[in-house]
Amino acid sequence: MSELKSVLVTGGAGYIGSHTVIALIEQGFNPIIIDDLRNAKEDVVPRVEEITGKKILHFPIACQDKAAVDKIVKEHPIWGVIHFAADKAVGESVENPLKYFDNNLGGLVALLEVLKDNGVSRLVFSSSCTVYGIAKSIPVDESNPVSYNSPYGFTKLVNEQMLEQFNAAHPEFKMVLLRYFNPVGAHPSTIIGEEPQGVPSNLLPFLTQTAAGIRPVLTVYGDDYDTPDGTCIRDYIHVSDLAEAHVAALEYMEKEDSPSFDVINIGTGKGTSVKEMIDCFEENCGTKLNWQVGPRRPGDVPAIYADATRAEEKLGWKARFSVKDAVTSAWNYQQKRLEKLKSNS
Ligand code: WQD
Repeated sequence: MSELKSVLVTGGAGYIGSHTVIALIEQGFNPIIIDDLRNAKEDVVPRVEEITGKKILHFPIACQDKAAVDKIVKEHPIWGVIHFAADKAVGESVENPLKYFDNNLGGLVALLEVLKDNGVSRLVFSSSCTVYGIAKSIPVDESNPVSYNSPYGFTKLVNEQMLEQFNAAHPEFKMVLLRYFNPVGAHPSTIIGEEPQGVPSNLLPFLTQTAAGIRPVLTVYGDDYDTPDGTCIRDYIHVSDLAEAHVAALEYMEKEDSPSFDVINIGTGKGTSVKEMIDCFEENCGTKLNWQVGPRRPGDVPAIYADATRAEEKLGWKARFSVKDAVTSAWNYQQKRLEKLKSNS
């Protein structure tokens, strides 16, 4: 039996991280989680174990704890790393930029130092379409100019440039940066899904919490944009598709001829407006939604969605799930969590 390749997953108890851990196990990898649970519930890892039937090593530490990370890397034959651990709330980053600089920038520096010291030389990095700001052309491809609209977007852009310069100094260290569009939905089992701490800032969790009666009303942040129905357009990608893209990126790095450094959009290639998301929910989840139109949200771009051809060419990856699959899975998960909360109360 060949030794399974161990993959260190920082932030592996988070929304995207936990779904990726499942995909890694399904593809024959051995995920080892580093997550200090600052933005994840402590029962997520046991739920992932329930889905996969596998025991998963989880170290509740921060990437900045270099001594602890170094000990883990020395004690386990780490083949590659997927780095999710970061803060990602645009609004919060405007109010508290230092928190984002410390965690998103400081955390990456600390991790790279440990990986370099231990000869670990494969990294998949969680980047974001936020680096495109207001895109020059849509659908947006990887050559689109990059900028930032918030301290969060600034940290993602600087992360990318840190990695590019580190790679130039250490070309033997292979890296793939994945620029996510808008992750949504829940695992088909409905045992894990998106469950942000506090009041959701993202559309779909706020929408499902409104439908579940947890929030009184969903406010659509502006319907006077220059789009067909006046609401903003995004590329909503099912989190299980996104998870599989990470495994595809690891397998891409295994190929002798894969480049030492690459940047790849991970989206569906389709744009969906806020109003269309509401319609999709009402048409497929059998529930009317209480929503209203409010003022625009500062920092929102009118429209962005991916040109995802490079992901298909290089990774052999293409999104399989539809927006309808994502919306219905998110609603199924919301209802299941509500039942659990009621039964526990
Ligand atoms: C989507 C659309 C809102 C909530 C952010 C980050 C991005 C990535 C995904 C990390 C917008 C509208 C939202 C609400 C609304 N995160 N909306 N009412 O801002 O596109 O992307 O999350 O990588 O980097 O920037 O996602 O879900 O917040 O908003 O009308 O209550 O829904 O105005 O048009 P966003 P979002």
